[in-house]
Amino acid sequence: MVKIAPSILSADFAALGDDIARVEAGGPDQLHVDVMDGRFVPNLTIGPVVVEAIRKRTRLPLDAHLMIVEPERYVVDFVRAGADIVTVHAEASPHLQRVLAQIREAGARAGVALNPSTPPDVLEYVLDDLDLILVMSVNPGFGGQKFIPTAYPKLRRLREMIGKRAIDLSVDGGVKLDNAKSLADHGATVLVAGSAIFGDPDPAAMVRKLRTTAGG
Ligand code: DX5
Ligand code: ZN
Repeated sequence: MVKIAPSILSADFAALGDDIARVEAGGPDQLHVDVMDGRFVPNLTIGPVVVEAIRKRTRLPLDAHLMIVEPERYVVDFVRAGADIVTVHAEASPHLQRVLAQIREAGARAGVALNPSTPPDVLEYVLDDLDLILVMSVNPGFGGQKFIPTAYPKLRRLREMIGKRAIDLSVDGGVKLDNAKSLADHGATVLVAGSAIFGDPDPAAMVRKLRTTAGG
C-alpha cells in the first residue's frame, strides 16, 4: 500500500492548523515538513518551534525533511520537537552513518534524501542504518517545480539495493496524479506531494485520489 505524505510547504502558513485539519480528513499517512536554511538550498522555511506547534495539532507521523547544512547540529532538536522521521541530505553530511545513528538514538526513524544528481551508491554502506530513502525528483528548495524523470531509474535501482529490508522508498517533487502510478510501479512506497494537494480546492479528496491512482 502506497503512503501519501502531504508537504505543508504549499499550505497557508498563516492558517496552518486549519490546512492540516483539511488535509487530515483525506486520511494521509504522514505529514511532510520541509526545513530549509538558506544555505543548503536558496530558500528559508521553518525550524523546530513550528514542528512543536504542528505536533500539538495532529497525531499523524511527522516527517521532517532537513534541507540544511550540518544537520548533526539540529537532528535531536527536531526529534524533541515531535518529528517521528528525520531525513537528512546525503550531500550535506560527510559523516552520514553517524548522523543516522544520532537520529535513531534520539528515538526517531532515520531517513536520507538524495538530490537528483546524487547516485544511489552513496547509500550502499548505510542501508542498515536507515528507515527511509527520499528520492528528490526536483532540485530541493521550492514547491511547484517540474518533475525530473531520472527519478524513475533511481527508484528502480534503490528498490533492488533495499532488497528485503524494511525501508520506505519515498519520492518528493512534482508528484501529481499523472505520475503517481508510474512512481509506485518503479518502487516508491511513499509519495510526497505539496502543490498537487494544497493547490487543489479539495486537498482531502486529492489525498484519496493520489492513493487510489497509485494503486493502493
Ligand atoms: C522541495 C520540497 C518538497 C516540496 C514539493 O524542496 O522538498 O517537499 O514541498 O512540492 P511539490 O509537490 O509542489 O513539487
Ligand atoms: Zn520535501
